[in-house]
Amino acid sequence: MLAQAPVVNTPMQFADWTHSISRSVLRQMMAVVSRPGILSFAGGLPAPELFPTADYAEALTHVLATDGRSLQYAPPHQQLKAHIVELMAQRGVTCTQEQVFLTTGAQQGLDVLTTMFLNQGGQVMFEDLVYTGVQQVVAPLRPQILSVSTDLDTGMDVDAVEAYLADGARPAYIYVIPDAHNPLGVSISLEKRKRLVALARHYGVPIIEDDPYGFLYYDGDLERPLRALDDEWVFYLGSFSKILAPALRLGWMIAPEALIPKLTVIKEAGDLESSALTQRAVAAYLDNGHLPGHLATLRQAYGRRRDTMLAALSQHFPAEARWTQPNGGMFIWVELPEQFNTAQLLPIAVEEEKVAFIPGYAFAVLGHHVNNCLRLNFSNCTPEMIQEGVRRLGRVLQRV
Ligand SMILES: Cc1ncc(COP(=O)(O)O)c(C=O)c1O
Repeated sequence: MLAQAPVVNTPMQFADWTHSISRSVLRQMMAVVSRPGILSFAGGLPAPELFPTADYAEALTHVLATDGRSLQYAPPHQQLKAHIVELMAQRGVTCTQEQVFLTTGAQQGLDVLTTMFLNQGGQVMFEDLVYTGVQQVVAPLRPQILSVSTDLDTGMDVDAVEAYLADGARPAYIYVIPDAHNPLGVSISLEKRKRLVALARHYGVPIIEDDPYGFLYYDGDLERPLRALDDEWVFYLGSFSKILAPALRLGWMIAPEALIPKLTVIKEAGDLESSALTQRAVAAYLDNGHLPGHLATLRQAYGRRRDTMLAALSQHFPAEARWTQPNGGMFIWVELPEQFNTAQLLPIAVEEEKVAFIPGYAFAVLGHHVNNCLRLNFSNCTPEMIQEGVRRLGRVLQRV
């Protein structure tokens, strides 16, 4: 009987790859910087005061009152897919409802596509500095990461991509953030978009195009996504997180129709389906025609916050510092003179000036040297807080 079995002190066994888990640098920092009273440029959070709470509540209440299937297991909601086809048309992408695959956020899109494409120990291609969520997705498969640099004006180094491929590398996919890159704030030039798509086709390597910021632009329209240039090799990921609210956990993928059944089986293993209630509530919100006005509000508010931060940086940061001029999204990337170490600056900024940011190394894929860099978020603070926070950061820099 089990109860009488001798006690053996066997340590719990974990999968091999988990030994490489150090608590995510970002999460560790977020615990420190989200303490009350800290003025934080650290997270990638939308402005909470701009959430469309009342309109969404109306849509949700309507759905609960009128649609008996909204609390049931249910197939993907067609009406939402129809809205997504329209949204994609606004981005210059032609697609059909059959090519729309609903996800529980873009993060799940990354996960499902990684499961579909990447073998244990295979190869993927990332930029040297990249969204940490994609690094976490591939980690269990312990891939070899082929990394390329990023030009802070024109985006990913496509020459380097080509050099790898011409040299025989065949990564499972190339990961691309086309617009308002996280963390760099850069958008890829049209010429590079065309070349990337041509390379993907020529060498038969899929591209994952992660576009959560593509509807948040502040200087006129963005370039069209890569998916507008190719409907076979480019897998587009969109999200409602930054344009409505992250807590909806709702996003989408545009993929070749023939692959939707495979993607569905992979997604089912993770969460069976994305919330039917949320799908219907978001569709009802979109039916009511609220999104265009809401996007206009976000673009105006975030555009002003970006301008405020850029002006404050010019005023308070050392003359030798450089930063990106994002045309959309939520982030500015700052390069300080070489002698600064932003990982060492963070505790000083938090303790002495109650202001926070993310040190650049948190995004470095292969420990690339970015000790003097930092990422600043401008969407989550009011213009007044931005001015004050950048002034405080400037004081920290002067002091050290
Ligand atoms: C580049 C990028 N991809 C994906 C995500 C995750 O988005 P979602 O909330 O839709 O899962 C984020 C969130 O910050 C992001 O910055």
